[in-house]
Amino acid sequence: MTSGYLSEREARFLMAAAALAPAQGKNLEIGSFKGRSTVGLAYVTRELGLGTVVAVDPHTSPATTDPDLRGKTSSYDDFVANLRTAGVFERVEIQRVYSHELVREWKDSIRFLWIDGDHTYEGAKADLDMFKPYLVDGAIVAMHDVLGTFEGALRVFVEEVLDSDDFGPAGFSGSIGWAQYRPRDGKAARFRRRRRLLAVPARRLIPIARRADRGLHGWNKFLYKLWRPLAPHGDVNLKYLAAVTS
Ligand SMILES: C[S@@+](CC[C@H](N)C(=O)[O-])C[C@H]1O[C@@H](n2cnc3c(N)ncnc32)[C@H](O)[C@@H]1O
Repeated sequence: MTSGYLSEREARFLMAAAALAPAQGKNLEIGSFKGRSTVGLAYVTRELGLGTVVAVDPHTSPATTDPDLRGKTSSYDDFVANLRTAGVFERVEIQRVYSHELVREWKDSIRFLWIDGDHTYEGAKADLDMFKPYLVDGAIVAMHDVLGTFEGALRVFVEEVLDSDDFGPAGFSGSIGWAQYRPRDGKAARFRRRRRLLAVPARRLIPIARRADRGLHGWNKFLYKLWRPLAPHGDVNLKYLAAVTS
């Protein structure tokens, strides 16, 4: 399997969500690293005729929140090699720039938005803010590492997605937070209720994540273990996902 930072459960969820998003437009991945998520997205979108994947990443691992490159200065060569090995190179539109550079020339509608780039509050919020105007009704947004110890990404998901009536169905799978963009009926009671149920434990985790910058210990670890299970984050049933997002 392609090396990267996605668990098997998360990879399964990501592919299912990309397959089921009932919308037309581009599939945009922010943050590719060596291509683990890119390969899954490119495979499923190819098999189902859902267009190519635009993968934006400068591949220079520029921030403290970026993964270890094991001595290399760029993940680009491994990224390209992994796409070729998986037979999906032709299905990926590589954009070797930052997301804030890509958005300057971006014009397309987006049906699936995967945010896994800069995990700071400012970075994750900018990625959502910059590309939200391009989401089509029915599009799915998925953000990595929101149900974990990245305070910034978690806060953005709670405040900008779960607290927003622009989104309808929502949930977690592993550390992925996902929601369907549905400005037409996101304020319906059933969606609000569900988002609020998820937001209660997720919001409790924000200060815990903030204090966890040097790892989880003691009382903070206890609180993390108390609140995290209250946000359901197991495998998402495919029939449920298809029904709730249709
Ligand atoms: C956690 S890794 C992505 C992991 C990948 N999705 C996977 O499945 O293995 C984060 C990546 O985001 C990239 N990145 C950081 N800030 C970015 C930005 N503003 N725009 C695009 N990519 C960014 C980094 O270079 C790094 O490769």
